[in-house]
Amino acid sequence: QQLALIIPAAGKGERLGAEIPKPYIKIAGKSILEYTLLKFKEVSGLGEVIVSTSDQYIDETRELISRVFPGLNCTVVEGGQERQDSIRNALEQISDKTGLIAVHDAVRPFVSKEDIENCIEEASRSGGAVLAIPARDTIKIARPNLEIESTPNRQKLWQAQTPQIFWAALLREAYQYAAEHDFLGSDDSSLVEKIGGKVVLVEGSGKNFKITHPNDLDMARYFIGEGVQ
Ligand code: C5P
Repeated sequence: QQLALIIPAAGKGERLGAEIPKPYIKIAGKSILEYTLLKFKEVSGLGEVIVSTSDQYIDETRELISRVFPGLNCTVVEGGQERQDSIRNALEQISDKTGLIAVHDAVRPFVSKEDIENCIEEASRSGGAVLAIPARDTIKIARPNLEIESTPNRQKLWQAQTPQIFWAALLREAYQYAAEHDFLGSDDSSLVEKIGGKVVLVEGSGKNFKITHPNDLDMARYFIGEGVQ
């Protein structure tokens, strides 16, 4: 079945403290967004690509996605205040032919093709799939004053990443419900979970970190410089 890819790239990058938004920072001549898009180039079944971005990057992004995916249906939309708003704007552009929708952060350029394909396979079967890794550190629940409240059992804790892939109708219904009930989730899966949708974790290879803080950017530069893709 046909797959649509949504890439949210409209974040302001405040935590990184950079002058330009993270997806547009260049490393060795290419933007982080381009490295990310290239990971999906060989994925089979991909029919359309929608990128959400901020106003001043719309033209540049349109040129980039048409260059990376010649012949595919490529669209750029303006992002929103929250990541969830940026995805909602993109969802409105997806054609009815699409059976599966993958959402992948613009700032995760190290995802592997194998991880993407494993998620597609699981989502086709189950309805929803999320790339994740087992929690590496012990996770603490803390009060606002930083006093520890509890320590959940690490065996059950996973760190959810992207891609997150769903049956198109299920993701649309989840976004519809969230809009009607003013529900803000921290990822796409949480919206699908909210309406009782089944979502299954797919264990990732572990390289797929999100470029959030300045030291993540240093690590990305190092990886790319060393030829790690
Ligand atoms: O801020 P965070 O690291 O969670 O952002 C994850 C992805 O979502 C980034 O690629 C960012 O550009 C995107 N985003 C967006 N619209 C927002 C906030 C974040 O498209 N309002």
